[in-house]
Amino acid sequence: FHSDESKINMPKELDELEKICLNCTLCDLSKTRTHVVFGEGNPNADLMFIGEGPGAEEDKTGRPFVGRAGKLLTKIILNVLELTREDVYIANIVKCRPPNNRVPTIEEAETCKPYLLKQIDIINPKILVCLGKTAFMYLMNTDMPISKVRGQIFEFKEKKVIPTFHPSFLLRNPSAKKEAYKDFLLIKSML
Ligand code: URA
Repeated sequence: FHSDESKINMPKELDELEKICLNCTLCDLSKTRTHVVFGEGNPNADLMFIGEGPGAEEDKTGRPFVGRAGKLLTKIILNVLELTREDVYIANIVKCRPPNNRVPTIEEAETCKPYLLKQIDIINPKILVCLGKTAFMYLMNTDMPISKVRGQIFEFKEKKVIPTFHPSFLLRNPSAKKEAYKDFLLIKSML
């Protein structure tokens, strides 16, 4: 079988995909999660953000990017892109929280990736923004450091991919906000 479609019987609608995903037990992250974090936002968005995986707040609420990093991301979307969270779509590489927020393993990422690929397929955004190295690495199958690739334009299935720093990194390294700001101006110019 094709790895994109692995073990999941893929529906054509986002709601149907979400229902399947909410019951997923394909990897061990399903054993420790509280909620599956499928993703949310505008199902017709031109812009889709891809993070790494749910953290504690996200696991608690079932919503992506609602903790401290999420609040920063929401602020950047509003202030720099002049958009709201409802205008864009926000998802993650893995839909269940890795224990202690460890980086998802390649097996977890590959097992979960068909959901993301189907989200991309259905939503059909123009631009995919990878937040941080993990998102870029697992989407693009590369391990280039984020500092080397951020702010550059890549392609994935005829969509533009722009990697930038993860908002958690920006919280820890506020001086990197200058570069992130440039990346978001580039994103804005492409919308
Ligand atoms: N960090 C992520 O990568 N994703 C989330 O949803 C929240 C924090």
